[in-house]
Amino acid sequence: MTTQPTKIKLGFLGVHPGPFGIRGFATADSEGVYTPIPGVELTAMAEINEEAATKAQTMFGFQRRYSDYKEMLAKEDLDAVVILLPTFLHKQATIDCLDAGVHVLCEKPPANDYQEMLEIEQAVARSGKQYMFVRQSRFSANAQATRQLVMDGKLGSVYAGEAKWVRTRGRQVLGDTWRTDKSKGGGVLIDLGIHGLDLLWYCMGNPMPIEVSASEMPAFKQYAPNPDVYTADDNFFAWIRFENGAVIQGSFAFGMNQVGEKKEGESEYSDEWQSYKIFGTEGGVDIFKNQLVSGPNNSFTVSELPRDASLIGVSDLVTQAKHFAECVAQNKRPQNSVDQAVQLMKMLSALAKSAETQRSIRLEDF
Ligand SMILES: NC(=O)c1ccc[n+]([C@@H]2O[C@H](COP(=O)([O-])OP(=O)(O)OC[C@H]3O[C@@H](n4cnc5c(N)ncnc54)[C@H](O)[C@@H]3O)[C@@H](O)[C@H]2O)c1
Repeated sequence: MTTQPTKIKLGFLGVHPGPFGIRGFATADSEGVYTPIPGVELTAMAEINEEAATKAQTMFGFQRRYSDYKEMLAKEDLDAVVILLPTFLHKQATIDCLDAGVHVLCEKPPANDYQEMLEIEQAVARSGKQYMFVRQSRFSANAQATRQLVMDGKLGSVYAGEAKWVRTRGRQVLGDTWRTDKSKGGGVLIDLGIHGLDLLWYCMGNPMPIEVSASEMPAFKQYAPNPDVYTADDNFFAWIRFENGAVIQGSFAFGMNQVGEKKEGESEYSDEWQSYKIFGTEGGVDIFKNQLVSGPNNSFTVSELPRDASLIGVSDLVTQAKHFAECVAQNKRPQNSVDQAVQLMKMLSALAKSAETQRSIRLEDF
């Protein structure tokens, strides 16, 4: 008789059943029926919104549900949790879960700021549990191929990266949500900028940041339902210098008076677009366009990235979820590790401070 391997018992905190599903831990067939990925069990969920809870339970088949995540932690024998709560709840929920003895995968940003992240780092150390933060585009075929090219030295010395994620005009700020309240983890730097800056930082091999400079603008505040409580940046321009001499620059906007190139299915212009490029002395990569530009000296060739065929067409959320499950099952350190989360939040908090004070900041002094 063969015995089935034990499945990882997963609990979810916040399960808004939106377009991101439950972030890759279940996949839908052609009829829209969800099944958990191999090796995991959707044991329990905690969600305060009754409607979202009912919908998510029906959609994903969670065995039990709670409205209070602390009750879930106390009553369930979970191996790991996935935290999908609004940003301002990430720190406390992460610490509560680690202190309850479960492994944690937490949505980006891992915390509101660097100080909070240092508290999480301490909780990870005292718990001895695995900790990972969500940054799914690191797991895409294009990003994996780009990082490999960098690590193998195929791009030569990588000296710069350019990131952009822009939405046209102010549609994101029409509602009053935590996303436009800075004290609750709102603002475009920490919501979209984190994706773009982290993607380039990861692909460039996570060099050590040493200095940042930034500028921000609440350019669409006047359209908010309540401009007095609109404290978030909606346009952010960032510049980071690394120990190895490389730099990353980024532009991020919830709304900007700019349109993008028409994409498939759009009528004339795109009202949201992203672009991530890195440049080395021997080659450059446009990550989203899957383009590698290289020599010879006075000419150039443009080719596709040497991608891992098994990752092409697979959702990066699913690849990320499988990676977390594997790390839990084998007690292995995740790719999106706690020390990287600390460095990332240090960069982001220093950028926010630089924008506020309108001065460059050396990270050794931060
Ligand atoms: N990785 C990505 O691409 C990606 C995409 C979207 C959102 N996010 C991140 O995911 C997080 C959630 O974003 P969102 O837009 O889903 O937020 P949201 O405001 O919709 O909240 C998520 C869910 O948490 C529930 N919730 C709130 N407080 C709770 C509590 N105390 N206990 C239990 N449930 C609670 C809400 O009812 C909701 O269903 C944010 O940190 C955001 O940055 C990441």
